[in-house]
Amino acid sequence: VKKLHKRHAREGRPVARAAVLGAGTMGGGIAFTSALRGVPVRMKDIAQAALEQGLAEADKQLARQVRNGRLKPEKAQAVRAAITVQRDEAGFDEVDCVIEAIVENLDVKRRVLAALEGSVGPGTVIASNTSSLRIDDIAQPLARPENFVGMHFFNPVPVMPLVEVIRGSRTSPQAVSTAVAYAAAMGKVPIVVQDGPGFLVNRILTPYVNAFVQLVADGADFEQVDRAMEAFGWPMGPAYLQDVVGMDVGAHVFDVIAAGYPARIRPVERNAIRTLVAAGRFGQKTGGGFYDYEADPAGKPR
Ligand code: 3HC
Repeated sequence: VKKLHKRHAREGRPVARAAVLGAGTMGGGIAFTSALRGVPVRMKDIAQAALEQGLAEADKQLARQVRNGRLKPEKAQAVRAAITVQRDEAGFDEVDCVIEAIVENLDVKRRVLAALEGSVGPGTVIASNTSSLRIDDIAQPLARPENFVGMHFFNPVPVMPLVEVIRGSRTSPQAVSTAVAYAAAMGKVPIVVQDGPGFLVNRILTPYVNAFVQLVADGADFEQVDRAMEAFGWPMGPAYLQDVVGMDVGAHVFDVIAAGYPARIRPVERNAIRTLVAAGRFGQKTGGGFYDYEADPAGKPR
């Protein structure tokens, strides 16, 4: 694997400076992980409140590392200083890679990425952290689709090793190599996957979550299902997992997979996740989902 990563590092564009679009949970986690591994990052969001949330996410992660004894306090300051927050794209012409982590909406992504092409250099790699949208669909209006690739991180970004690198039909081998090498430099385990709704992980995860909502619709208690799956050996049960991922994100991934593979997945009509979305209970990020988190927004439900 190391040999393979070295080859990608040779063939890709070295990432010495990066940028992240979107300062939500994922954007903040990606910016933090990049800065921690020595690649300074510009984090852009159009909303000041989102920038503050992204920085708060990075601060939380830094405090966690210092608390765990993994990072010396003086190094923590340097990592924090390596994250610049901004509401425009100043300095984007000097970055080697931009990771987009904005809302999971095809039209918005297309519009924002097409505009981004005007702010970056001609060789800058643009990666989307989309959880399930096809790279070819997002790339449709781009002038330089060869520079565009998927880089799908998992939540919580600092601890989840996997990154799916998605090769669109027009993505250049150099862009794939850049994404693989950058993910490896961030301490991650990159895998290259073909383009298609849900890529690899969400094609496996979605039927599992669908089976869970089916169980709940049949009358199962979600907490008991969580206890069972945790006793079975999984790190967290499906309800807690949805709270961590975000109910809105989970519902969107489901829609993409259901539309992409209509013969393979049967949606559950009376669906606990949709009920929670309609109630604005998106999970940990809104203080409650299946469980309540008001006392400790990132804490465990029990
Ligand atoms: N942020 C950063 N670090 C965290 C964290 C968080 N939110 N939660 C826990 N950690 C760290 C802890 O600090 C600890 O680190 P240490 O070893 O240095 O002390 C380590 O993770 C283990 O933490 P805990 O002992 O407190 O808790 P757990 O043993 O329950 O582990 C977990 C937490 C790693 C999050 C584990 O529960 C897990 O792996 N859960 C599954 C998460 C998952 O499946 N994510 C993917 C979601 S799907 C997705 O994102 C894709 C999208 O497209 C839908």
